[in-house]
Amino acid sequence: MDAFEYRNKTLFCENVRIDDIISEVGTPAYIYSKNAILVRYNDLQTAFRDIDTLICFSVKSNSNLSICKTLAEAGSGFDVVSGGELFRAIKAGGDPLKIVFAGVGKMDREIRYALENNIFMFNVESVAELEHISKLAGEVGKKPRVALRINPDIDPKTHAKTTTGKKENKFGIDFTEAERIIRQSARYSSVDLCGLHVHLGSPIYTADPYARALKKILAFIQKCRNAGLDIEYLNIGGGYCISYTGEDVIQPKDYARKILPLVKEMQCNLIMEPGRFIVGNSGVLISRIIYTKETLHHRKFVICDAAMNDLIRPALYDAFHRIWPVNSNIKMPEVENFSKAILKRGMELVDIVGPVCETSDTFATNRALPKIQEGDLLAIFSAGAYGFTMSSTYNSRPRPCEVLVDGDCYHIIRERETYEDLVRGEDL
Ligand code: LLP
Repeated sequence: MDAFEYRNKTLFCENVRIDDIISEVGTPAYIYSKNAILVRYNDLQTAFRDIDTLICFSVKSNSNLSICKTLAEAGSGFDVVSGGELFRAIKAGGDPLKIVFAGVGKMDREIRYALENNIFMFNVESVAELEHISKLAGEVGKKPRVALRINPDIDPKTHAKTTTGKKENKFGIDFTEAERIIRQSARYSSVDLCGLHVHLGSPIYTADPYARALKKILAFIQKCRNAGLDIEYLNIGGGYCISYTGEDVIQPKDYARKILPLVKEMQCNLIMEPGRFIVGNSGVLISRIIYTKETLHHRKFVICDAAMNDLIRPALYDAFHRIWPVNSNIKMPEVENFSKAILKRGMELVDIVGPVCETSDTFATNRALPKIQEGDLLAIFSAGAYGFTMSSTYNSRPRPCEVLVDGDCYHIIRERETYEDLVRGEDL
């Protein structure tokens, strides 16, 4: 949980009581710890410091300007997948020379925007895209660095919807096609083809899929070099896991132990694109109980004011998030395993749901929770990554505010949306 801990039965973020923040900003609210974000960034940097490594924070995981600024100031680069993310990264103070641009469907206007800003590298996902970038770069007399995103056909053993490196996925270029591109690289005279990129999916709970992919890539780099093309950069993408349950998970040094020897053998500079690892456990979503209700079938529902529009991961991926009252006499278990609910005295099994008109608007089913009542606050943990960024205004629900805690202080880093925000730009 990183910077979130219970002191005297109430939840704190760093040195600030969650209760105090909520009494000012209301609910639902995302609350992040600046220190946790920086500690995570530094952990990764330390684990991989043996070789020249550029960490590009994956903006899709949390694109708030203040979060990006925090990371930019720490020296981070950025992994973007759209013109909008590039805009955010630059606005937050990101150095364009540390920005990599991925995605299967870059549009010409986004490519031009990236060229204007002289970003560090395009991660290219198809021949068609390579042709577009080469043509557009030629038109403005530039020669951008390009990495081919390889689809190595490796199963990262994660959720099917977040698996990206298998042959049936839309991402990347298979080795046969990549070899053809390398042989014909002279055709793309307005790009500097100097890198390879791979992103297998996320979250990935062992280093093995990375190692297996890198072994295949190592052989391919040799082929490139034999063909006279030097591959200077290897981008291994993101996907580094976090603990959603409190159980121990693999740490950066464990990934590094398996990945670094292979990258050293390749003699490449390393780029990585972590998102979740840096921000996932650095943020919580706080929600207030609106009602509780029990059905004739003895099913007890806790209805809270956050919903699937605020945090869609449970609805979309059946993702597990720990949930516990902000104030509780019962200690949150160190480890909570979704397959075994531990019911102690004073607890009950409940379904935690939101107000949206969909059955999938469920954060947890049959979850053991201390008895709670209307008005109580719940903390939904591990919500710092793919929480706010995947939020929507479905059911015309204004999006939550976001708060960044720094030691004893906190700042609202995004205002809560209003009804007026919901209709902005619409015409009658
Ligand atoms: N690089 C590329 C090319 C990616 O597509 C992604 C994530 C990342 C890096 C960062 O992955 P991370 O280190 O954050 O795991 N919305 C989902 C995950 C889908 C991520 C898509 N791409 C979730 O809520 O778990």
